[in-house]
Amino acid sequence: MNVPLLDLKAQHAGIRDEVMRAAEAVIEGQAFILGQPVLDLEKEVAALSKAKHGIGCASGTDGLLLPFKALDLKPGDEIITTPFTFFATAGAIHNAGGRPVFVDVLPDTWNIDPAAVEAAIGPKTRAICPVHLFGQMADMEAIMAAARTKGIPVIEDACQAIGARRKVGGQWRVAGELGAATSFSFFPSKNLGGWGDGGMIVANDDAMAERVRRLRTHGGFKMYHHDEVGINSRLDALQAAVLLAKLPHLSRWSEGRRKNAAFYAEALAGVDGVRTPVTDPLNEHIFHQYVIHAEQRDGLQAHLKDKGIGSAVYYPLPLHLQNCFGYLGYRKGSMPVSEAAAGHVLALPCYPELSDAQKEYVAATIRAFYGR
Ligand SMILES: Cc1ncc(COP(=O)(O)O)c(C=O)c1O
Repeated sequence: MNVPLLDLKAQHAGIRDEVMRAAEAVIEGQAFILGQPVLDLEKEVAALSKAKHGIGCASGTDGLLLPFKALDLKPGDEIITTPFTFFATAGAIHNAGGRPVFVDVLPDTWNIDPAAVEAAIGPKTRAICPVHLFGQMADMEAIMAAARTKGIPVIEDACQAIGARRKVGGQWRVAGELGAATSFSFFPSKNLGGWGDGGMIVANDDAMAERVRRLRTHGGFKMYHHDEVGINSRLDALQAAVLLAKLPHLSRWSEGRRKNAAFYAEALAGVDGVRTPVTDPLNEHIFHQYVIHAEQRDGLQAHLKDKGIGSAVYYPLPLHLQNCFGYLGYRKGSMPVSEAAAGHVLALPCYPELSDAQKEYVAATIRAFYGR
């Protein structure tokens, strides 16, 4: 049996007519940059995130870069984030002129440790950027509280977490609702993925939203008039039309991922050597990735590959140890929880179209590897 890590062809087969119709309308109209589909998607994603503003952009990376640029960082200004994330989080801080300050993650969820965030806040801290890793929100209430006392903004990296929720003070809060600005990625493999790169910033701060919108189009609202130097980071109308067609399916897809996660949790319970993902009881996870902690991880991955099962390591090298961040002065051992996680994490197929037979095969193949 063959079980890829992700099967976008299976997703497309289920929605082909509606998504092709939406794409064709854009092609017939021949208006490809921004335009009505982007405005409509901005409204929908802002509503989904209970945020005031939505601003489409070219990628989730730019969805971080633009709000960071809006902070007008000066040399030495710091943004606190996690080293256990995709490179873009810290790359965007660097490219906006900031200095990433890494703090370690929690050993269960691998989300940023809020106590470590609070301890790292100093006179040069200009923002905090929690990442809602693999589709589960970070401890936003603690992070927001720490930020509030120091008067600094929180910029959420929700690239993997569109629609994820967390109970804060007994109330559901969705990714993007609490931060000053939030980035979503529409990279094709995301729970809501386009037909290429795409991203969206949602913002609750009016000034931030206006600034980001302007920076997105070379720093000016009026054609050929530029108030500041921005970048070109527009969302294509074609991407927006595809995403609008997919959006009504998003909550069902995320529910399907949760069901698959529940299946694996049961099927792998008691397997010595495997810890299935820990969901903070306050969170509703969207399982963008289903990541286990595995002893003999590399052996397991090779075994799965042999048996036709896709898997991936997110992430093999934490960001504080990347060559390009050598100038920050971190060493091996600086972030022990992230470093330990990097040696044990393994993402398994969890996409909503997985059949029962495929899931059972994955679980049985893992059990067999550990002699169960
Ligand atoms: C946590 C995180 N941040 C940022 C990004 C960047 O998004 P994009 O690939 O759309 O630029 C990603 C995408 O993989 C991500 O997973």
